[in-house]
Amino acid sequence: MKLNAIEKALMNNPARAVLQRRYEAALLRRLGGRVAGKRVLEIGCGRGVGTEIIFERFGAGEVHAFDLDPDMIDQARRRLARYLPNRLKLYVGDGAAIDEPDASFDAVFDFAIIHHIPNWKDAVAEIARVVKPGGKFYFEEVTEHALGRWFYRTFLEHPQSQHWFNKEKFVAELERHGIVVGENLVERFFGDFIIGVGRRSRSNNVEN
Ligand SMILES: C[S@@+](CC[C@H](N)C(=O)[O-])C[C@H]1O[C@@H](n2cnc3c(N)ncnc32)[C@H](O)[C@@H]1O
Repeated sequence: MKLNAIEKALMNNPARAVLQRRYEAALLRRLGGRVAGKRVLEIGCGRGVGTEIIFERFGAGEVHAFDLDPDMIDQARRRLARYLPNRLKLYVGDGAAIDEPDASFDAVFDFAIIHHIPNWKDAVAEIARVVKPGGKFYFEEVTEHALGRWFYRTFLEHPQSQHWFNKEKFVAELERHGIVVGENLVERFFGDFIIGVGRRSRSNNVEN
């Protein structure tokens, strides 16, 4: 689901960009390393700060990035004009039905978007489908612990509580689709946020 006006203001904000650049990117890089020269997908790219980080801090060669909200894609297009069209493809798309071929990316990045998708397990299945065997999934996510807080319930809009996840549910769903996280994950702020990197195993078997 798209962000409401309050969350959009919180996200499209210099403080969020500083946090993403200085803290989240550094932690993700420590957990998963760079993706130098690689082909990367970013889901829910918002106004494109994460995409910039994937080029500048992670060294990606080519990035495809999409968001459900056309207004976000317009903002990202302006921010990232220097990478278009040779190294970047930007488009409106849905993380629960990713418009990309199977096993076509070396890495997928998720900066806080999957908790916005009611059928979040479909997004996990789609990520596992498009990442190459041996490829990586970098994620920063917001858990049910945060979404249940008064501030989130009062001011922000998210899927209903039956669609929320915690660390265990999220990791179990990734691992069911062959994305192994193991200990490569940290919890922050009393478990409100999880930041980690999984690696797609080489087999395609989904455990039921
Ligand atoms: C919390 S914001 C994060 C934006 C950006 N990744 C960042 O870290 O600043 C979540 C983003 O996911 C997008 N979004 C929500 N549901 C989506 C979906 N089903 N598919 C793709 N993008 C989605 C929203 O429009 C929004 O830009």
